[in-house]
Amino acid sequence: MADLLAAALAAGLTSRLARRVGVPQPPRLRRYEPGAPICEGPVLVAGGGRFTRTVEDLLRDRALAGVTVVPAAGPPLGAVVLDLSEAADPADLDVLRAVGAPAVRRLRPGGRVVVIGTDPHTLTDVAAAATHRALEGFTRSLGKELGGGATANLVLAQGDAHGGVRSATQFLLSGRSAFVDGQALRVSGAEADAPGDPVTPLTGKVAVVTGAARGIGAEIAAVLARDGATVVAVDVPAAGEPLVRVANDVRGTALQLDVTAPDAGGRIVEHAVSRHGSLDIVVHNAGITRDRLLVNLDEPRWRSVLDVNLRSVLRMNESLLATGGIAQGGRVVCLASVSGIAGNRGQANYAASKAGVIGLVEALAPQLRDRGVTVNAVAPGFIETQMTARIPPVRRELGRRLSSLQQGGSPRDVAETVAWLSQPGASGITGQVVRVCGQSLLGS
Ligand SMILES: NC(=O)c1ccc[n+]([C@@H]2O[C@H](COP(=O)([O-])OP(=O)(O)OC[C@H]3O[C@@H](n4cnc5c(N)ncnc54)[C@H](O)[C@@H]3O)[C@@H](O)[C@H]2O)c1
Repeated sequence: MADLLAAALAAGLTSRLARRVGVPQPPRLRRYEPGAPICEGPVLVAGGGRFTRTVEDLLRDRALAGVTVVPAAGPPLGAVVLDLSEAADPADLDVLRAVGAPAVRRLRPGGRVVVIGTDPHTLTDVAAAATHRALEGFTRSLGKELGGGATANLVLAQGDAHGGVRSATQFLLSGRSAFVDGQALRVSGAEADAPGDPVTPLTGKVAVVTGAARGIGAEIAAVLARDGATVVAVDVPAAGEPLVRVANDVRGTALQLDVTAPDAGGRIVEHAVSRHGSLDIVVHNAGITRDRLLVNLDEPRWRSVLDVNLRSVLRMNESLLATGGIAQGGRVVCLASVSGIAGNRGQANYAASKAGVIGLVEALAPQLRDRGVTVNAVAPGFIETQMTARIPPVRRELGRRLSSLQQGGSPRDVAETVAWLSQPGASGITGQVVRVCGQSLLGS
């Protein structure tokens, strides 16, 4: 019923009526197309921080279709980058209003605002730390104010993290981040990695995606392959048919495997290395829900969700991260969930498992820094899949409407974020939880 309501609200006369009574219309999101310019329109870079040059070099990179950097006054803008990384005192924040307000007025639909600051946890001066924390409140509020599918996000640099800032800014400006809004990303990595081919940055990499037979996993497999990776698609034997279809579509291989099997990690390594020569990227995507209020939650529902979503990842990592497993410079991306951040009624088991995944990522990342292996979590909000199609209609429509972008995301939005974190250039992003939720009110 609510899907009919959503369709009716989007249609001609009903849409005009809906607008008049104040029901917001979901805007079109600007999504990534290989080879398209990083932004639709010129970019204003202001603030005078230590990453100004890095951002301008990124924007002038001809391989990224050379966006123009424009002065304070002028044409409609594709994006605004406010680099306040050198701010030392709250007075330095004035630029957010003085430059930010007129620039945001000129922002085109689907535009981007990226604010750059310094990670407050790396600062000892109290006024400076307070100033950089202030950027978070500013950016999250702006995300809620922008319309037309535009987004605002914050990059917090740990020291001279030129490589991390470059990679994160490129992602946040591009259509890859269409459903990432109101987020703060902490980045490190002084070295800017060699740019590589922007259209196929994963060329030569071997990626394993669990739960790849459908939904978000199938889309992750497609996007990693589009970006140049060779993909091993993993799913349970019962999903054998769709799994083979996905593997064929991406010209990869299929591995029928229950991720809770004790030897799952070893079998993944063996398959990737013997069939494709290495293992570079692992995406722990397989997941299940068995929703019940805690008082009605039986033991199998409790145990199976924790087994599939959390314990299997911990167990598989033992083999995946052992010698002979994931290569130097490898990438591990785990699917968490906004439920794991905010909690959700009827999902005590699921939210516990996904919060556990976040804990795993945060604890593991520092241990793997020396090997150049990054570990991150992607936390989707409301994404249109078979999993969310099972939510009762009215709650489903509410789930969509709870975000600043007024809609659910697509599996592709999650896949684009996973693919970005898998890039060689994203070596400065580790131990992070990137929410792909359109700035869902839940947990924000
Ligand atoms: N859809 C959303 O809105 C949403 C939101 C937040 C997080 N997530 C997470 O994203 C991931 C993918 O979600 P989805 O919506 O595509 O789910 P889905 O149910 O459509 O697909 C999950 C896939 O995982 C596979 N799988 C389940 N148990 C497995 C096992 N033991 N071994 C191997 N494969 C197994 C299933 O067969 C299926 O193909 C999950 O981890 C989910 O928790 C989804």
